[in-house]
Amino acid sequence: MKLFDEAMIMQDEIIRLRRDFHRHPELGFEEVRTAGIVAQQLTALGMEVKTGIAETGVIGIIRGKSDAPVLLLRFDMDALPILEETGAPYASETPGKMHACGHDSHVAVGLSVAKLLAAHKEDLAGTIKFVFQPAEEGGGGAERMVEAGVLDNPKVDYSMGMHVWNDKPVGWFGLNPGPSMAGGHIFSIKLTGKGAHGASPHQGIDPIMAATQIISSLQTITSRNINPLESAVVSVCTVNAGSAFNIIPQEAVLTGTIRTFKPEVFEKVQTRFYEIVENVATAMGCQSEISLTRMTYPVINDPELVSLMTDVVKELVADAKIDAAIQTMGSEDFSFMMQDVPGCFLMVGSANKERGLDYGHHHPKFDIDEASLAPAVAILAEGAIRILESHPNSK
Ligand code: NI
Repeated sequence: MKLFDEAMIMQDEIIRLRRDFHRHPELGFEEVRTAGIVAQQLTALGMEVKTGIAETGVIGIIRGKSDAPVLLLRFDMDALPILEETGAPYASETPGKMHACGHDSHVAVGLSVAKLLAAHKEDLAGTIKFVFQPAEEGGGGAERMVEAGVLDNPKVDYSMGMHVWNDKPVGWFGLNPGPSMAGGHIFSIKLTGKGAHGASPHQGIDPIMAATQIISSLQTITSRNINPLESAVVSVCTVNAGSAFNIIPQEAVLTGTIRTFKPEVFEKVQTRFYEIVENVATAMGCQSEISLTRMTYPVINDPELVSLMTDVVKELVADAKIDAAIQTMGSEDFSFMMQDVPGCFLMVGSANKERGLDYGHHHPKFDIDEASLAPAVAILAEGAIRILESHPNSK
């Protein structure tokens, strides 16, 4: 039987798994129940299983006819601190926590790919390392797993990951043979002035004034400093200051994110960021303290892997719509696992507008059309077999 048909037979089981994870969402580094189920299922498939990597991460290794090459398949497990409003029968049973990005689907897909490939061990011309990762949502789970040696023992030659994509309908697949998701940085700015009575501003130094000037001026980086044909985002997303209507506070704190694709564009943004914050703060009489740290690298797909996966999608899904130009300023920490090896991040259209399943990621009503899942399982399993077989980039 063809792998695709086998995956379609598993459809009910895939959906049951996904709904179980959906009912029981766990935040980053707290994925104890999820990781427990993952470890138990991978062990039952006869894999070498390691648990507790970067807190709750799980690795399962399956060896085929030969040891090399080694393909890493990564699936993220964490949920978000959101109160679910879908009203679905399988909605979150933990108020304030929700699988609003679709990582529940990723775990279900990953376990199903593992089951499918374990039954086809004889077709594997190498080793597959299944990686179930904690804390993708800004928690740095992928980086922690890489630090814990997930790319070694055995050494990984290729990495592949996936994400359900609710901006696009079922049948759509995003496979860009180059930069597809931006690299992200997180910043925090602490402005210190001098507290005073609200009626006596001349006796204080107002950090709120400095904050507002800085927020406005930062927007000139993308509009005045970066080449309009390049991509960059600077967003201030939190503003915190003050405790009462008649007190000029001592401090104001801003946090936000910077997104870029190219290192040289980031360098330019970073230089202007420091110049603006430090000098505007000084001009307003405040002291400034800046923290700017990398959250993710950009996701830059390997053209050979993308070409192989594009063939797989075309063969398996009759009327697949393949988008080779997809790009988003959203970011993915899977980029840490494809920094040193060729990688491919597959985006799987999961929306169904007619059924109201088209809310965006991180929305309290986010839900997907589960018809997207079984084909994704087939594509990843078939792709894995072919990557090991053809060993791209090795000549
Ligand atoms: Ni996500």
